[in-house]
Formats: sequence, C-alpha cells, structure tokens
Amino acid sequence: MPTITVLGAGAMGSALCRPLADAGWDVRLWGTWLDDHLLDAVEAGKPHPRTNVPLAPGVATFRSAQLEQALDGAQVVVMSVASVGVPRVAELALPGIAKADALWMTSKGFSEADDGRIGLLPEAIRSIAAAKGVTLPPLVAIAGPVKANECAQALPTATIFGCRDGEVSRSYAAQAATANYAIAHTDDETGVEVCAPMKNVYAIALGVADGLEEKTGVPHHNLKAAAFAQAIAEMSLLGAQLGADPATAYGLPGVGDLEVTGLSGRNKVYGVRLGRGEQPQEALAEMDRLEQTVEGVPATALAVRFVEQIGGGLAERMPLLAAVNRLLNDAGVDPMTEVARAVLPVKPTL
Ligand SMILES: NC(=O)c1ccc[n+]([C@@H]2O[C@H](COP(=O)([O-])OP(=O)(O)OC[C@H]3O[C@@H](n4cnc5c(N)ncnc54)[C@H](O)[C@@H]3O)[C@@H](O)[C@H]2O)c1
Repeated sequence: MPTITVLGAGAMGSALCRPLADAGWDVRLWGTWLDDHLLDAVEAGKPHPRTNVPLAPGVATFRSAQLEQALDGAQVVVMSVASVGVPRVAELALPGIAKADALWMTSKGFSEADDGRIGLLPEAIRSIAAAKGVTLPPLVAIAGPVKANECAQALPTATIFGCRDGEVSRSYAAQAATANYAIAHTDDETGVEVCAPMKNVYAIALGVADGLEEKTGVPHHNLKAAAFAQAIAEMSLLGAQLGADPATAYGLPGVGDLEVTGLSGRNKVYGVRLGRGEQPQEALAEMDRLEQTVEGVPATALAVRFVEQIGGGLAERMPLLAAVNRLLNDAGVDPMTEVARAVLPVKPTL
C-alpha cells in the first residue's frame, strides 16, 4: 500500500492514523515543534494526551526536525495542523507536497492574505505554492462529523472527501475506507471547506440555547432546533455564493458536522457560558485558562469580513452569523433575544 505522511500530531492527525493503518496504508506521523510532548507519550505506548487513545500500531513517528525524512517517498501528504499553523507548515513541507500525488487536508478555517482579503485554507496553500512557482498535486478536503477520539478508537464514523477532480476523491475514498470509517466523496471542495469553519460559529449559537436551559431550568430545544436549521441554510447560502453546490451543507459537512459539534466541544461549551449569562470576554478568558481554544471566535470575525467582502447583500441574509458576532462583541446584548431575533421567523427565501 502507498505511503502517507500526516503533518501534525495533534488530536486529529494522530486519530486519522487509525483508519489509514487499518486500511493498510504505510502511515507516518510528523509532529510540529509544538508536538514533542504528544509524541513522547505515544512513543512510550501511552494514550495520546488529546484523545486518550494510543496511536495505531505500526505508525512511524517523526519529530519536527525530521520533516524531510517524514516526507521522503510519500505518495499522499495530509495537512492536519491548526489553521493558524497551516501557512508555515505548508511552506516547510512544500518540496515533499509537490512530489506527492495528492495533498489531503483535515485543517479547517479561514485564511487572511497579506492584502487583508479573507479566503478558505486551500486558497492560502495554493497562493503559497504559486508564489514559489510550485505546482500542487490535487487537494482533497476532508470533513464531516468526526470527533478525533472516536475516530482514534475505530468507532463507527462517516466522513467525506472533496476534490475538484471527482475521480480523485472517489479513488482515495475507496482506498482509505474501513468497515468503521465510511467515506463519501464529492467534487465540491468549496462546499466542504465552507461548512467546516462556519459550523464552529454556529455551534456557539446552539450552545446558547443549552446555556439558557441551564440558567432557567427550562429547555430551549425549539430555539436550538430553529437555530440549527438557520445555520444550515446560511452555510448553504454562503457556499452557493462561492460556486459550491447548495446541497453540500445538507449532508455530512454541514448537518453532520454541526450536529456533532453542537453536542459537545469547545465552541458549544463557550456558547453555553454565554447562554448562562457570562460576559463574552470573561468567558473566553476562562476557556483560555483551561487551555480550551475556541476556534469559533476568530472564525466569526473572519466570516463576517468574508461575507462583507463577497457583498451583494449577503450579510443581511445571514442574520445568525450577525447575531453570534454581536454576542461575542457586545457585553450588553441578551443572548436569547439575539438568537431568537435571528432565527424567528424562518426566512422563506433561504
Ligand atoms: N479534533 C477533531 O475532531 C477535528 C475533526 C476534524 C477536523 N479538525 C481540524 O483539524 C485541525 C487540527 O485539529 P486538532 O483537533 O488536531 O487540534 P490540536 O490542537 O490537537 O492539534 C493542533 C496541531 O496543529 C499544530 N499547531 C498549532 N498551532 C500551530 C502553529 N502556530 N504553528 C504550527 N503548528 C501549529 C500543533 O502542533 C498540532 O500538530 C484543525 O484545523 C481542526 O479544525 C479537527
């Protein structure tokens, strides 16, 4: 089987090694300069500190200084670092990526170019490669409802591979699937990439509904469900503006991933705090203190700018995004009023 090198030994990078190893790939895991303690643990046979699950047997590990060795002869490279680290790691790994047959990406988020323009992460990687005169292999976006700890335990998981060349995503989906790791495939890279950071934004709104229940003792399930539907409609709309298939948001990358993100996870927990009545900055400081990075907070700010950049009245058609943005930035707003105003009544045009 071909060799695959996963860049980033965090929760997702290490977890993805499990189905890949089970599917018979020759798997290498490279840790960044921030990952030594994670590799120390798994190399000693201990559970990975972020997933609490040991690394799959047979996976070869590489330290940050061994990037060249880790990439040598790799047919596929997987970018699995946090979005903030993607430009630097992409630059360092570019020679190896250029020689591979494909670049897969679990990294998710928006990127900001030097001129301030906001884009999706694949655009950032393509610009870095273009600036260095390097031709990239096909890029495969990996998304869907995948909690790293469950994936690492080989619990039943459905994911989706999106590549502009649909034959490429179809072929890799077939090569990486296992009995418990099912892979759908699509040629809608943009649709897949839009949903991933946006679901973190909307998970904050879903958390608000749960926080209201904690505060009042009264369930706010109707509000949560209405917010869920509005969130999917807004993701679909944003995708469509970028040329994506509007239906993509209604499958694994949107509905699936928002469901799993809204059940648990840091963005939802932050929303719960807001719903309970905590002030946005204080709640964020407390999450930071607990080393709980809330990806949805920077994603909200970038999403607002991205939507403004697209223009054409799109911002007015995404009231839930605007409501989350107000909740994060204005300590004076009432969480229930903000979310309710954004999602009631259902907009027939969406
Ligand atoms: N955890 C999940 O269930 C899951 C599922 C799907 C996608 N993802 C995405 O995968 C990516 C990684 O998530 P994770 O859960 O593994 O996160 P993590 O925090 O466990 O690991 C982050 C990885 O990024 C690297 N990194 C962080 N900051 C960096 C920087 N400034 N420079 C260079 N490298 C840096 C770390 O060294 C580590 O390898 C994210 O974009 C996330 O949205 C995660």
